[in-house]
Amino acid sequence: MEKLNLDDYIRKVPDFPKKGVLFYDITSILAQPRAFRYCIDSMVELYQDRKIDAIAAIEARGFLFAAPFAAHVGIPLLLIRKKGKLPGKVMTKKYSLEYAEAEIEIHCDDVVQGSRVLLLDDLIATGGTLNAARELLTACGAQVPEIFGVVGLPFLNYEKVLNPTPVRTLINYH
Ligand code: PRP
Ligand code: HPA
Repeated sequence: MEKLNLDDYIRKVPDFPKKGVLFYDITSILAQPRAFRYCIDSMVELYQDRKIDAIAAIEARGFLFAAPFAAHVGIPLLLIRKKGKLPGKVMTKKYSLEYAEAEIEIHCDDVVQGSRVLLLDDLIATGGTLNAARELLTACGAQVPEIFGVVGLPFLNYEKVLNPTPVRTLINYH
């Protein structure tokens, strides 16, 4: 696998979406195939021997990394979507964001009881979204042995929120 410094491929946008926030933008990874390939190859290397039965990813940017991984490894991909997007029978979880509430949903019927599901998102900030997603998966009968993010912002204390599930990231910003 080609080694590269992922930091070189992540665009940093000051004051987005609001003043004082430095936004780590992954669209610049997607626009540079070497970097995108590096992310997928790294995920394969991390998880191919870890007895993962399926991968679950969070709308929207999480989907982009989970889909090539699932196709490459040959495991099911479960979509966790924002409320009102999934057409089948759903399980819903409400959770708090910084200033608002959000709701995410999953097709529970696609979750195999007792299966080991790797949970993925592109970026982990407070961990609130992944925490809600983990609750959805476990309520549907899955185990969540690992959580993965391409980018982590550990100064927002996501480790505490996601404890005791081990969290891996490809790059952290402090
Ligand atoms: C961003 C990011 C994660 C979440 C991280 O998604 O992609 O899903 O926020 O924040 P948290 O750790 O504090 O919960 P966003 O809601 O902007 O959605 P998008 O991927 O559809 O743009
Ligand atoms: N980048 C992308 N998504 C995010 C960020 C960020 O810095 N913070 C919260 N969601």
